Amino acid sequence: MQVVVDLTRCQGYAQCVFLAPQVFELHGDEGLLYATAVPDDQVERVHQAVAACPVQAILLGEE
Ligand code: F3S
Repeated sequence: MQVVVDLTRCQGYAQCVFLAPQVFELHGDEGLLYATAVPDDQVERVHQAVAACPVQAILLGEE
C-alpha cells in the first residue's frame, strides 16, 4: 500500500505522526509531512491516521 500526503492540504496537525510514527515524519521548520510506502504491519495504524487527520490530507493507494 502507498500513502500520499497532500501537502497543499496538510496543516501540520501531526495526528498521523502520533498514530504511525514509523510511517509519517514531520520536517522541522517547514512543518510539512513526509510519507513512504506502508509496511504490512503498519496498515492499521495508517488507516487510523487517515481517519484522524482533521483536513483529510492523507490519501491511500495501491502499489
Ligand atoms: Fe498533516 Fe493531517 Fe498529518 S494535517 S501532519 S497529514 S494529521
